[in-house]
Amino acid sequence: MKKSVLVTNKLFEEVLNPLLNRFEVEVFQQDEPMPRDLFKERVEDKTGLIAMSVDRVDQEIFDIAQSLTVVSTVSVGVDHIDIETATKRGIMIANTPGVLTETTADLAFALMMTVARRIGEAERYTRSGKWKIPIYRRLLGTDVYRKTLGIIGFGRIGRAVARRAGGFGMKVLYYDIARADKAVESDLNAHLMPLDELLATADFVSLHVPLDKSTEKLIDQRRLALMKRSAFLINTSRGKVIDEIDLIKALKHKEIAGAGLDVFEREPCLPRELIEMENVVLTPHIGSASYETRKKMAELAVENCFLGLEGRRPRYLLNPEVWKEKGDKIS
Ligand code: DGY
Repeated sequence: MKKSVLVTNKLFEEVLNPLLNRFEVEVFQQDEPMPRDLFKERVEDKTGLIAMSVDRVDQEIFDIAQSLTVVSTVSVGVDHIDIETATKRGIMIANTPGVLTETTADLAFALMMTVARRIGEAERYTRSGKWKIPIYRRLLGTDVYRKTLGIIGFGRIGRAVARRAGGFGMKVLYYDIARADKAVESDLNAHLMPLDELLATADFVSLHVPLDKSTEKLIDQRRLALMKRSAFLINTSRGKVIDEIDLIKALKHKEIAGAGLDVFEREPCLPRELIEMENVVLTPHIGSASYETRKKMAELAVENCFLGLEGRRPRYLLNPEVWKEKGDKIS
């Protein structure tokens, strides 16, 4: 019997060809998340799964899908997957790092520019027809160039943001659990700083950590209170890295100047308070959403799944201990 794959999103048709030629492939043909009940029903007999970051791939799914050998997610973030359970059951988990680095860094920078220069507000103002006379002292924003940028999480995306900051003559501080190589620090002119000190020093704080137990609600009331009243918070990582209620309070009480947010605690539900704030820029989780990048992500996810089903090591395997076991079995 042919191995079978469930793909929970249409992706790009041509990208699926390697799978279609070799396996039974079932694709959820809508441009919206696959409903949970349907997901559970359709994954039951599958050997491979290509999932999106909105699909919760948890113990319940692993209990249902007893034949699953590989889960390939079309995302770099893997907080939606229970990797521990997958590993115990010998299921390979793979993701798509690297290909979305520059696109996501572009968005972080765009949010920074947009919130600092009040571009969202200015755009709404222009469209509203209120612009009747030349404006001189209205819609005044904050300069970005030569300011201090604090990057929390200095992996691929954090570093790509630092590279952009160089072009704006910004001073770059970073916080990470591991110090970057000296060569990287000097290339990016980036300085390691303890987290609380960075928060108190930066004019812009940009978050680039993965979501896990150690980063959930990393930015809470206490840490928001450390930030300058003139500072802006940018988040293109995961919504749950910020305590959203604390953020709303800090914005309301003007403890910080504004925020640029692409990710939220309970997507796609947004708190009304955030929607109503002028000093907040909101985008619907589009960090990697350029045509080129989304296509590369889909290709890589398909390749990871294909390799896994063929008994070969997926390019970006996150639980190599499973592979070792498989390797041992294969040899
Ligand atoms: C990612 O790749 O993790 C993006 O946030 C898309 O979900």
